[in-house]
Amino acid sequence: MSNPTQQQIPATLIPGDGIGPEVTDAAVAVLEALGSPFAWDIQLGGMAAIADGGDPLPKATLASIHKTGLALKGPLTTPVGGGFRSVNVRLREEFHLYANLRPTKTLIPGGRYENIDLVIVRENLEGLYVAFEHYIPIGDDPHAVAMSSGVNTRDGSRRIAEFAFDYAARNGRKKVTIVHKANVLKALTGVFLETAQQVAEKYKDRVACDDRIVDACAMQLVLNPWQYDVIVTTNLFGDILSDLAAGLVGGLGMAPGANIGLHAAIFEAVHGSAPDIAGKGIANPTSVMLAAAMMLEHAGMKDKRTQLENAIDAVLNEDNIRTGDLGGKASTKEFTAAVIKRLQG
Ligand code: NAI
Ligand code: MG
Repeated sequence: MSNPTQQQIPATLIPGDGIGPEVTDAAVAVLEALGSPFAWDIQLGGMAAIADGGDPLPKATLASIHKTGLALKGPLTTPVGGGFRSVNVRLREEFHLYANLRPTKTLIPGGRYENIDLVIVRENLEGLYVAFEHYIPIGDDPHAVAMSSGVNTRDGSRRIAEFAFDYAARNGRKKVTIVHKANVLKALTGVFLETAQQVAEKYKDRVACDDRIVDACAMQLVLNPWQYDVIVTTNLFGDILSDLAAGLVGGLGMAPGANIGLHAAIFEAVHGSAPDIAGKGIANPTSVMLAAAMMLEHAGMKDKRTQLENAIDAVLNEDNIRTGDLGGKASTKEFTAAVIKRLQG
């Protein structure tokens, strides 16, 4: 319900590339129906920013997030191989967004798996994503040898483990599973495991802890995902496992994510800019709406988060209004209108 007396919270909005503007428009519209809790500062990023001024991450965008400390971001297209460094990675580094929080929950019963409710906490700044990479040329092959070093620090491992256990304790979660590959990458992921286990000790009265090797975890997520509650893992493993987890609940159209640091947080869908369906008006806006819901809770409005999630649930499961990726016929705008109707109903 609209509440004109409520103070608006300044926040940055980056519409993004491809389907980005379509799905972020949808999220802004449902937030509006919730009483427009955010005062948006709209800024460019990605290809849209390159077209505008040549820089995929303009200074004005950075300055805005430094000021607001809060952003909702549409997906940004990153060229593979050459070209510029991922804007998403640059944003994480600039604002020290060390935690990537990706909840995965069944929203539509009757899929391959029922009642999935797990959370992946991915370390967002270290590991192999520091991309300390180079080639060693041999003979006339400039790419004869490719090398990459990963970096995990004690501090970084402690910070993310504390985030995961604290999240679990505050949200009534029972268990945190530390996922690693310390049997092979004994230093790189060994320090992560060792440090996370030290953190687990502090929480042992409230939150249980176990650990898994990443490949076994991937298999178990397919065979019996219900054994997991919260997973905390390093950057690359978290990237892969969170897409796998999204697949358990019907794909990328349903998966939100938050990038959280001490002074800023950026909320986004897990999916990318979906160039194959961009501009057609058929993208599923649920992921970015759910990201907006997480943003509401982060900004102290947990009741509004619940309201928005309940409205989405009602549209999907009672009104049976769904976009094409979920086997429905609704356009992005029709789905959005249905969520707004539920919020106002
Ligand atoms: P993608 O997530 O954009 O698309 C994968 C498949 O899922 C496509 O078939 C697409 O149509 C479908 N899909 C994605 N979101 C959907 C939605 N909301 N509704 C309906 N269908 C949806 O992944 P892809 O194709 O690998 O990447 C495209 C671009 O996005 C690349 O440049 C990539 O770097 C970028 N990307 C950006 C991310 C971000 O900004 N956080 C995250 C992932 C990729
Ligand atoms: Mg990814």
